[in-house]
Amino acid sequence: MNDRLYIFDTTLRDGEQSPGASMSKDEKLRIARQLEKLGVDVIEAGFAAASPGDAGAIHAIAETIRGSTICSLARANERDIHAAGGAIKPAKSGRIHTFIATSPIHMEKKLRMQPDQVLEAAVKAVKLALEYTDDVEFSAEDAVRSEMDFLVRIFDEVIKAGAKTINVPDTVGYSIPALWGERMKQLIEQVPNAGTVIWSTHCHNDLGMAVANSLAAVLNGARQVECTINGLGERAGNASLEEVVMAVRTRRDVFNCDTRIDATQIVPASKLVSTITGYPVQPNKAIVGANAFAHESGIHQDGVLKHRETYEIMRAEDVGWHANRLSLGKLSGRNAFKTKLAELGIVLDGEEALNSAFARFKELADKKREIFDEDLQALVSEEVATTQPERFKLVSMKVCSETGETPHAQLVFTDEGAEKHASGLGSGPVDAAFKALESVVNSGADLLLYSVNNITSGTDAQGEVTVRLSHDGRVVNGQGADTDIVVASAKAYLHALNKLHRKNERAHPQV
Ligand code: KIV
Ligand code: ZN
Repeated sequence: MNDRLYIFDTTLRDGEQSPGASMSKDEKLRIARQLEKLGVDVIEAGFAAASPGDAGAIHAIAETIRGSTICSLARANERDIHAAGGAIKPAKSGRIHTFIATSPIHMEKKLRMQPDQVLEAAVKAVKLALEYTDDVEFSAEDAVRSEMDFLVRIFDEVIKAGAKTINVPDTVGYSIPALWGERMKQLIEQVPNAGTVIWSTHCHNDLGMAVANSLAAVLNGARQVECTINGLGERAGNASLEEVVMAVRTRRDVFNCDTRIDATQIVPASKLVSTITGYPVQPNKAIVGANAFAHESGIHQDGVLKHRETYEIMRAEDVGWHANRLSLGKLSGRNAFKTKLAELGIVLDGEEALNSAFARFKELADKKREIFDEDLQALVSEEVATTQPERFKLVSMKVCSETGETPHAQLVFTDEGAEKHASGLGSGPVDAAFKALESVVNSGADLLLYSVNNITSGTDAQGEVTVRLSHDGRVVNGQGADTDIVVASAKAYLHALNKLHRKNERAHPQV
């Protein structure tokens, strides 16, 4: 059996389907560059037919990335395949991933199609996709609840039509490892010419088993895993890339296969995705959580000090922890700063953006003893946000918080360039700042989530705040970073309001 396991990353497609995680083209490009550095085999860059923005982002990624295959998702219909084919055109290596649902419940209730019609659409889609690229993947959506005989029939036909990768998704996260492994094994045994294609698995995490199910499929012959950074994704998420990769690497004795992932890029990728999407990583998350390598109990600490392997099965530095100390300091010049950005795969739009990012770097270096790559990523995220034409911008703020007194915030911000003054009281300084802003903006948005994370360690670390707002069925995440978390909170709130405003403009464009 082939000992190479292919990693298909769908952070930019299934991951983006998490509420509020939608990304701009530039943000997607930054993540794609990091995925390329990480060594993923396939980047599913989006769903071209979903919107012109999605198609544009896939096209830009296809133009830029040379080290990974760039893929677009497409339903099994002509319009989607043409959109996907156009979007991946500039790629050095491009793939179309076409799918159709195969379970009785999806075919009858959602598609309102007979199985024979589904089969015909699948074969037609694969043949049409082959006109754009010879790398075509077919997925049987909701394979977990599909009948085995029908799966065997449809996979047989799409392989004959020319599909090179056959993906078996647990779309609703319903399976358990023993059953999922068995399903993969039976498919490989029963589908004619199964040995001529790569078998792939795509698992959702509704019962918390996406990684376990993916690994069971690998043990039974799957050689591609579809996954996302930090397990981001629709509902409870997808299988987490870092957990799959490190499981097969750490237990090579069990899996007998490995990926070409450069594991030292895992933590930087995790931090970047978290910064850009506003989805924090829980501290006890395997591999990339802040506590993943922290030993709290005295017995464990003693053991690790005597012999690391007593309690550690992986080395923190091998997955990219502690690897990011920036050698730039407050006295570093603009060139060194530019070189470091390039090393991180960050390209700023023009000299003006670089100068302004450099000025922010200097400001930060004045406040913070050590600056890490993650600080730079957060700084650039803010830089990109502020160079876009944004409706609201923070100018300054003052917050009074004293034991026994009601916290009071005063803010100055601009609304389409016009200066506004806001003041408000709240149960705490953050609440006061948000109430002050709302008293002037009156957005009517609901606050769904507020979270603060330290970007790096130490009391001088920048706090990264995520604010999730919803309005009229639209959900957005705003981020802000600052060494003062109340300032970071106000920035995050205004960032979220700007995103809501942009979404509103797209939904109701001004004539
Ligand atoms: O979960 C799923 O079934 C999917 C398919 C499009 C592969 O995301
Ligand atoms: Zn999915």
